[in-house]
Amino acid sequence: EKPKPAPVQCVGPEYRSESQKPTATVSTDVEFETVTVLPQTPQLIALLSKIRDRDTERGDFIFYSNRIIRLLVEEGLNHLPTVEHTVTTPVGRPYDGLAFEGKICGVSIMRAGEAMEQGLRDCCRSVRIGKILIQRDEETAQPKLFYDKLPTDIAQRWVMLLDPMFATGGSAIMAVEVLISRGVPEEHILFINLIASPEGIKNFATKFPKLRVVTAFIDQGLDEKNYIIPGLGDFGDRYYTM
Ligand code: URA
Repeated sequence: EKPKPAPVQCVGPEYRSESQKPTATVSTDVEFETVTVLPQTPQLIALLSKIRDRDTERGDFIFYSNRIIRLLVEEGLNHLPTVEHTVTTPVGRPYDGLAFEGKICGVSIMRAGEAMEQGLRDCCRSVRIGKILIQRDEETAQPKLFYDKLPTDIAQRWVMLLDPMFATGGSAIMAVEVLISRGVPEEHILFINLIASPEGIKNFATKFPKLRVVTAFIDQGLDEKNYIIPGLGDFGDRYYTM
């Protein structure tokens, strides 16, 4: 499929008239109701511009990626079940609020997904985090499961699956199959990523119609090496080594 033209939108606070707002390329729209794209706010677009810039050095790349990851995790938590919960404030008045219900865990797809673990820990103290390593099998060129370490009671948990770049969807599909084979219902999995390709989103939403995806941006497409375009290059290299 040919990439559609990138959508351009005025982005800025309401105290500026539309004609005074700067324009920016924003996320492609999504046709699946299980997919949530973060609101395309000036803050998010500026953070994404930092990490997309090839001249951004590693320290800044880590700092700005972590800020986006935090936004994604906070949004992801909105998709978990809650129950009514009334508390009494220090001035003796009741407040009718909510409490989270159910146990959660994170599962990172190694290695890039590990960069998202701290963001989850920052929001959910002492959260259990499992890992899955999937790599391309040199003989078959297909993704292959090399390693997994998952909480033994994972079937009773909501799972936040973490991988920053959602390109073809091959590894994420395999990771979800592993989770389902361990008894996790599809509707209890939330896949959290920074940048997705339209191809990955479509593959995934068609294969797993009940699984929710939370992403910061759906990009234009994939290049001949399956890098997301315009993308940000290799996330793992930029976060861990460059
Ligand atoms: N993984 C990355 O790190 N970047 C891409 O563009 C695609 C997959």
